[in-house]
Amino acid sequence: MNILLIGSGGREHALAWKMAQSPLCHTLFCAPGNAGICEQAECVSLDVDDFAAVARFCKDNDVKLVVVGPEAPLVAGLADALAEEGIPVFGPRKQAAMLEGSKSFTREICRDYAIPGPENATFDNEADALAYLKKHGAPIVVKADGLAAGKGVIVADDVATAEAAIRDIFGGAFGAAGAKVVLEEKMEGEEASFFALCDGENVLALAGAQDHKRAYDNDEGPNTGGMGAYTPAPVLTEEAEQQVMERIILPTVRAMKDMGVPYQGVLYAGLMMTDEGPKLVEYNVRFGDPECQPLMMRLNSDLVELMQATVQRDLAGGSSDWSEQAALTVVMATKGYPGNYEKGSVISGIERAEQDPLVKVFHAGTARNEAGELIAVGGRVLNVTTLGNTIAEAQKRAYEAVAKIDWPQGFYRHDIGWRAIARERGEKGASA
Ligand code: GLY
Repeated sequence: MNILLIGSGGREHALAWKMAQSPLCHTLFCAPGNAGICEQAECVSLDVDDFAAVARFCKDNDVKLVVVGPEAPLVAGLADALAEEGIPVFGPRKQAAMLEGSKSFTREICRDYAIPGPENATFDNEADALAYLKKHGAPIVVKADGLAAGKGVIVADDVATAEAAIRDIFGGAFGAAGAKVVLEEKMEGEEASFFALCDGENVLALAGAQDHKRAYDNDEGPNTGGMGAYTPAPVLTEEAEQQVMERIILPTVRAMKDMGVPYQGVLYAGLMMTDEGPKLVEYNVRFGDPECQPLMMRLNSDLVELMQATVQRDLAGGSSDWSEQAALTVVMATKGYPGNYEKGSVISGIERAEQDPLVKVFHAGTARNEAGELIAVGGRVLNVTTLGNTIAEAQKRAYEAVAKIDWPQGFYRHDIGWRAIARERGEKGASA
């Protein structure tokens, strides 16, 4: 079967690497891809906003499955346009992608189906939002309703910050994504991510993971797309995973079916592990980046088979097989990220790092210059991913591999996995 993968990040490299291992995969295309993906797939230049052009490419190249990595094309309706042309897509239709595309939509479902989450309210005007803020005070979480490239969530520890955020959003800082504002109680606990495949009706639990959102060690510095991740996440015990499935994922999938917009694809629940159990922070309609990288490293099952079962509504009774080992990813980013950074710095040493068979370096913002050298062209650039018998062992292997990569313009966190490792050592404060 020929497959088209959409995207260019570390997540897509991990998906491409795993899909290319499947005997079901004949030719793998990727639009647009990156320098690493081009080793696994035929990278093609396609405007993914031009749905007709994507459909034409699929027909011309006998593509029988399209896998959409990022959320934006799904929220824009790519899956609907391709489905109308009879092209199977792994990823939800536009209405179902609202689970990520509209925070108020998700909170309405949570209310109607008693899914645990924070106290919250949605506003379509500044005055009412400010009045609610005055009544409830801070800390409070201010969210632009729509997609805002990861920047539309402001955790405000004081009223002045919350007020400024509300005014900014209604003032147009995020365009149409800020037509509504959701105000939420700031939940206390540890964040975790959980992933499940959904075929519209049936759900197959995949695994949990934990991300590191801040740029620098000790969870300091600005928020990023994610500077590292690992799986499994010890905070997500078997009991907690069961609660996530029963109280959060299954009622959501039921809600979408009841509404006539069945959810098909991977569902990523961003969770807060509170004293009252897991609560939903947000949904994403795609794999997490960088969580996908360690997940793919640990997945023993055939990814294409799982994706096909999802698309063909055939997940009932299915299972997924995971390595008993832990997997961990250290993200290497260009100095300056998540602010301004320069493009074009040369990277070497990846082959040296990958000499250990338990190391895989997934590319994100990479390209080749005219001399054929590997260069950085993005903020997040490399994802050094490893397996180990424990998270501590995977972490040690990852930093040994990072040390073999020669890239003076890059930086990375030195403490990826710290919570899990503190738990492995039985230390107090692991959940701080
Ligand atoms: N790692 C966070 C995200 O993918 O949204």
